[in-house]
Amino acid sequence: MTNSEKIAHLRSLKSKALLGGGEKRLAQQHERGKLTARERIDILLDEGSFQELDMLVQHRSRDFGLDKQKFLGDGVVTGYGRIEGRLVYVFSQDFTVLGGSLSEAHGAKICKIMDHAMKNGAPIIGLNDSGGARIQEGVVSLGAYADIFLRNTLASGVVPQISAILGPCAGGAVYSPAISDFIFMVPNVSYMFVTGPNVVKTVTHEDVSFEELGGANTHATKSGVAHFLANDEVACLQNIRRLLSFIPQNNCEETPLRACNDDSNRQDETLNTLVPENPNKPYDIKEVITRVVDDGDFMEVHEQYAANIVVGFGRLAGKSVGFVANQPAVLAGVLDIDSSLKAARFVRFCDAFNIPLVTFEDVPGFLPGTEQEWRGIIKHGAKLLYAYCEATVPKITVITRKAYGGAYDVMNSKHIRGDVNYAWPSAEIAVMGPKGAVEIIFKKEIESSENPEAMMAQKEREYREKFANPYIAAERGYIDEVIEPAQTRPKLIAALQMLENKVDKNPAKKHGNIPL
Ligand code: HXC
Repeated sequence: MTNSEKIAHLRSLKSKALLGGGEKRLAQQHERGKLTARERIDILLDEGSFQELDMLVQHRSRDFGLDKQKFLGDGVVTGYGRIEGRLVYVFSQDFTVLGGSLSEAHGAKICKIMDHAMKNGAPIIGLNDSGGARIQEGVVSLGAYADIFLRNTLASGVVPQISAILGPCAGGAVYSPAISDFIFMVPNVSYMFVTGPNVVKTVTHEDVSFEELGGANTHATKSGVAHFLANDEVACLQNIRRLLSFIPQNNCEETPLRACNDDSNRQDETLNTLVPENPNKPYDIKEVITRVVDDGDFMEVHEQYAANIVVGFGRLAGKSVGFVANQPAVLAGVLDIDSSLKAARFVRFCDAFNIPLVTFEDVPGFLPGTEQEWRGIIKHGAKLLYAYCEATVPKITVITRKAYGGAYDVMNSKHIRGDVNYAWPSAEIAVMGPKGAVEIIFKKEIESSENPEAMMAQKEREYREKFANPYIAAERGYIDEVIEPAQTRPKLIAALQMLENKVDKNPAKKHGNIPL
């Protein structure tokens, strides 16, 4: 071959690889309303930044006619590129090649970029569109999955791992995303299940649709498996770009400062009247967050799941912060199993990746009842407690209203290494709410009183005056400062700047034993 023939040969191989499973199947992918593996990468990354690896990899299987079904790249496009100029590693499964199923060779390509990501300290983004283990390859494909799961686990807490589900992900295809940090889904495009509707019908006789069993809405609202919902694939990929702007490249770095025109000393008078006079009336804690963060820019995680707690990312004076906030507008902001799990995972993510935590607290306590007790609120609530106790990033709390019972301790109290603990004048900090407390400690007096109702009201008033305020906690130094709500933003920024070089450590150990 002459040199120009060699170059022509290379070009022809690359053009063939670009076609994945062929033009017909690429057209079918579009007919299903889905983007192709390569179109997704183009939208995700900075223009022209993608560098592909392993474009010419093929499987080596011979069984079940696979020797006649070979495709350059073997059903996954892998490589690296940039998002807002920052390095990321990407794999994008190609459903047009044997349903994006995972072969030995396909798995090895994914492992290769994961290994690069670990050595070079950059996020891994997986765009998943796969029928799971390549059935014709048998145990070899199972092994390839396990190779990925191991890397997902070792990379956890070292580099951020983000998964978009952009097709039917069945079987093993769901477990790698499950170990990653964040899962994005798109209604009518994404499906995740361990076994599909047909197997479900055979085993449990349930009739269930794809959407109902493992669609985006199911996982965003019912199971909590999905962290983000997007209306379409383009929005999903753009949201991944946005999320990355809040998180660092790896566990040894911090998120870069972003230039910010929002004044650090900006006060917001609306906050002074946001908490209703009546302690039983709700208000929207998201309004507090959006009024405090830079330019009102807040990216909520798990928006549709366990809405009685709000978690997500924002910035204060250009610095990325993780917010955790009880939501009095939903179930009075009570802590239950789902909200504890949601917040615990978020706290651990932020701690692993050096993102300071700001907690807004308005919580009447843990949710009572057999449903919660029998499902294990004790061990699940303990996860949130454990996550806060363990976290060594800067931790700031603002008690806006109720901080009752165990929930006071859990929500980043001073005692579990809260660095700066603020309270608004509307804060109520005590073992329990006035009604419950009075019913217990004045039971006999109330029962023997001529007018139990009046007695009860009187005792409740006394209890509220004595305990339902922040000043006893402030006397002890459990609250560092009672602040005017309007000053929350400047106070938080000052505290974060003070904590900029914070160093705190946990005792050396192999790992703790979080109550799973
Ligand atoms: C090989 C597969 C495949 C697979 C799909 N294909 N899944 N090939 N291995 N796992 C092929 C199909 O044969 C078909 O090829 C093409 O991909 C497109 O698939 P369709 O079925 O036509 O598409 P669709 O109707 O959209 O259905 C998609 C699907 C379905 C829901 C993903 O294909 C499906 O149920 N696949 C099997 C899922 C599964 O059970 N996987 C194994 C899980 S066990 P042709 O050439 O006919 O177009 C597992 C173990 C790991 O993953 C466990 C680790 C913990």
